[in-house]
Amino acid sequence: MRLDVVTIFPEYLEPLNVSLVGKARARGQLDVRIHDLREWAHDKHNTVDDTPYGGGPGMVMKPEPWGEALDEILASGEGEPVIVVPTPSGAPFTQQLAVELSAKPWLVFTPARYEGIDRRVIEEYGDRVDVREVSIGDYVLAGGEAPVLVMVEAVARLLPGVLGNAASHQDDSFAPGAMADLLEGPVYTKPPEWRGRGIPEVLVSGHHGKIARWRRDEAFRRTDLNRPDLIERADPAAFDKHDRAILAALGWSAGEDGRFGRTAGAVEE
Ligand SMILES: C[S@@+](CC[C@H](N)C(=O)[O-])C[C@H]1O[C@@H](n2cnc3c(N)ncnc32)[C@H](O)[C@@H]1O
Repeated sequence: MRLDVVTIFPEYLEPLNVSLVGKARARGQLDVRIHDLREWAHDKHNTVDDTPYGGGPGMVMKPEPWGEALDEILASGEGEPVIVVPTPSGAPFTQQLAVELSAKPWLVFTPARYEGIDRRVIEEYGDRVDVREVSIGDYVLAGGEAPVLVMVEAVARLLPGVLGNAASHQDDSFAPGAMADLLEGPVYTKPPEWRGRGIPEVLVSGHHGKIARWRRDEAFRRTDLNRPDLIERADPAAFDKHDRAILAALGWSAGEDGRFGRTAGAVEE
């Protein structure tokens, strides 16, 4: 996979040399190219921002440097990339979107600073290629570089051969399939007792079926506790009779449309 990142802070992307992404680069699984936007700003100060039309505080990133940068990058590769524009006003970045992006051969990220990029840049490239405006959460950061680090790591670990154990991301929280609307439950390793705390007996039972059921029950418990909105939106067709039993025990019941909601008057465990 090829990844281009255009930024005014190339040094902010240094962590892409470290750990899983760094190793994937070294192995040639990821071709990461970091570009300094100011190389496409031609005045004496390499200016990339200007005052906003309509007034107000803050500055806006000028369209010309972005246009020249993106034209050059788009012309430098085979086929068309997906352009990912980090912005708090974008669609939420989810595991599902990470999976979708991991199947693309080429992604171009455009992390902004100031109040963002002149709208016409998004429109111009939206007419030419697949442009996604994406938010990593309901908060505002000073720039899009940290969101790029987040998104690249989430996408890269899904690429074949990047994680040591290819199956490990299939059981993750939010993983498409059985975990799509669930959080992963707790995990344990050796020693069997630490500071007087043991581990759930079932995990050393050697009974794979019981372990799988316990893990799924724990996933429901944790989702109930931390993200009940996921259970509310889940497709009930994904729930088997054991899932329904644990949901009932946690105070959930199916409504007329089959979807689960908190049972009225249910007592919290
Ligand atoms: C200060 S923010 C601009 C915020 C913008 N005025 C707004 O309210 O939507 C500057 C840049 O940081 C990045 N950014 C900030 N928060 C983000 C988030 N939650 N998700 C993705 N990118 C974000 C974007 O690239 C954004 O253009």
